[in-house]
Amino acid sequence: MITKIDEHTITDAALEQMATTKNARLKEIMDSLVKHLHAFAREVDLTPQEWLDGISFLTAVGQTCTPIRQEFILLSDTLGLSSLVNHLHDRRAIEHGTKTSLLGPFYRQDGPALPLGSRIFSKEEGPEIAIYGKVTDGAGRPLSGATVQIWQTDDEGAYDLQKDASKMDLRGVFQTDSQGNYSLRTLLPMGYMIPMDGPVGDMIRAQGRHGYRPAHIHFLVGKPGYREVVTALYLGNDEHIDSDTVFGVTESLVTSVKANDPESPIPNLPAIQFNFVLAAAGEQGTGRVGADPAQIVKK
Ligand code: BEZ
Ligand code: FE
Repeated sequence: MITKIDEHTITDAALEQMATTKNARLKEIMDSLVKHLHAFAREVDLTPQEWLDGISFLTAVGQTCTPIRQEFILLSDTLGLSSLVNHLHDRRAIEHGTKTSLLGPFYRQDGPALPLGSRIFSKEEGPEIAIYGKVTDGAGRPLSGATVQIWQTDDEGAYDLQKDASKMDLRGVFQTDSQGNYSLRTLLPMGYMIPMDGPVGDMIRAQGRHGYRPAHIHFLVGKPGYREVVTALYLGNDEHIDSDTVFGVTESLVTSVKANDPESPIPNLPAIQFNFVLAAAGEQGTGRVGADPAQIVKK
């Protein structure tokens, strides 16, 4: 019998045709996606022109992707989807750990390995600060030999990749000492605008949004046997702290710089103190909401 397809039966017809999907998780995801997509089209009473505009927009997003730029991830970030995936990931942890935040497009896995206390910037002058703290497990026990990767903008809001991709700057990879301590010297970062010269920038402008991220410092902290933490520390006094364009700010990640900190292992510098907590490893899989764009294009 030929199924009568109309606006009421189309959703069930599509679900019925996909019922043969062998992979149970793929079936669950696609069934839900189709249900929500259809509900969305019905709710806004989507017109053919609007449907085509949407297809054109997504086509432009794809065409903007290169081995060094991932416009689809930027779209996910600016729609709040990446942050939502971070929060869902945190909820699956088997014990308390530092909250995660977006990896962002400027992570490089080959940052320089440096001794504790090193300076991670090459600029001669600038607002220098210290960052220090401990890495502990969920019970507060110090973790020695944990890897602490850091990357950030300079004091004008630019990453090394945006200035000269052939040079590494404002990045470092540290190992905690026997007491779980890490420390380094860096520049006070400045907030910046996400890449606004593509279709996502057009969307942000059409929505009347400012496009800024508040000043932050990215961290990737890990040790075998523990859940990798991809996160960032945000400066609470930034004017965009409550309106991050990619929704990465979480209260527990908001920090401030102390002008004088007698506890700091690096004297005579303003300092940020932050302890990272690594939960025990639970389910397999990465905590990185983000990726090297080159890997995605290759696939
Ligand atoms: C970043 O923090 O580097 C970033 C995250 C999402 C979009 C753009 C930039
Ligand atoms: Fe960033």
